[in-house]
Amino acid sequence: MNYNSILEGKHIVLGITGGIAAYKSAALCRLMVKAGAQVQVIMTPNAREFITPVTLSTLSGRPVITEFFTANTGQWNSHVDLGLWADAMVIAPATASTIAKMATGVADNMLVTSYLSTRAPVFIAPAMDLDMMAHPTTVRNLSLLRSYGNHIIEAATGELASHLTGKGRMEEPERIVKVLEEYFGTGRELAGKRVLITAGPTVEKLDPVRYLSNFSSGKMGFALAAQCAARGANVTLVAGPVSLSTPAGQIERVNVTSALEMHDAVTARAARADVVILCAAVADYRAEQTASSKIKRDGNVLTLTLVPNPDIAAAVGRDKRDGQLIVGFALETDNGLENARAKMVRKKLDMIVLNSAREPNAGFQADNNTITIIDSDGTVTPYDNKPKTDVAADIVDHIVSLMHNS
Ligand code: CTP
Repeated sequence: MNYNSILEGKHIVLGITGGIAAYKSAALCRLMVKAGAQVQVIMTPNAREFITPVTLSTLSGRPVITEFFTANTGQWNSHVDLGLWADAMVIAPATASTIAKMATGVADNMLVTSYLSTRAPVFIAPAMDLDMMAHPTTVRNLSLLRSYGNHIIEAATGELASHLTGKGRMEEPERIVKVLEEYFGTGRELAGKRVLITAGPTVEKLDPVRYLSNFSSGKMGFALAAQCAARGANVTLVAGPVSLSTPAGQIERVNVTSALEMHDAVTARAARADVVILCAAVADYRAEQTASSKIKRDGNVLTLTLVPNPDIAAAVGRDKRDGQLIVGFALETDNGLENARAKMVRKKLDMIVLNSAREPNAGFQADNNTITIIDSDGTVTPYDNKPKTDVAADIVDHIVSLMHNS
């Protein structure tokens, strides 16, 4: 792919806030302009203490906007127009304070009003001291911004302006440009492809008020649906009971409750799918009989008879058609690689994503995940712990590379 021209003609609003890393924004602006983008810089009032608007207006070839009104002409700078003009908004560096304002809608400067007005994708590159970065307030604000669909370009670890060493350095300008190029360049990789995804837990009723289930939140499957839709796929998301809203894009959501319902929903649709991603945590067993009335306590030992649920992944694998790609997940506590490989073979999958239930900050409920991808040819690719949105991008990158190689 020719990345040189991906940003050609793109309208980018570059928001700069008041942090030491603002000096890197000059290089970022220059790289964006060099890549052919039209860059409109917005600086917060504090940013001007760190880098001069003259530098940025010279590099971008446009007057820098800071205030709602240009003092000497009285001209109103319309945040609405800017928001609509933008193909992307990049906030680099993003201080803890701007991140908090964005997360809560405190629109007291041009940067945050433009953020609230834009319909374009927003990329946020935080930069701050390590303790501010790790503070639960910042973590929560970033997680909120991420949940609204913003792209967080994680801060790097290294020496900080305070001379402390830790996480908080703004990502390098070259890397930020690369993220934009990947975003715009990969936009249509799955265009015309149908992707079927299962997500969340299943719930197996015992009686009118009780059920068997698991702790799956559905976050990984929903992040995959968002990622596939963002790359142009036509997505069908078969979701167990979760409290997540359907991501934006071409996504048809089919809500199911039990493994049997999920099985029927998937098998009815699998033949038409180019890619099937089985991310759901399907209950392996259900009660042989669902009581029609509440099971009463009589003081004795209660024995439930459980019968196996159908293996949805194995059913899809069995009926796999030529050119179809089937991706499974394996959540393991022990002997991860070995068990995952065995599942891939047993279910006739093309690749399997292993995540360990023992890994910190990963797995069910967590916002992050640590995965290892295993291909049917035995290739093992481990990844770092990262937000599930970024994990989804890694998985879809891998799927796309397999599709190109097949
Ligand atoms: N899966 C499925 N239907 C099931 C069980 C699992 O589609 N009834 C899928 C999962 O979505 C996942 C893969 O199969 O992609 C592996 O699921 P996992 O629960 O790890 O494996 P199981 O086959 O259930 O094996 P075990 O519970 O013994 O680890």
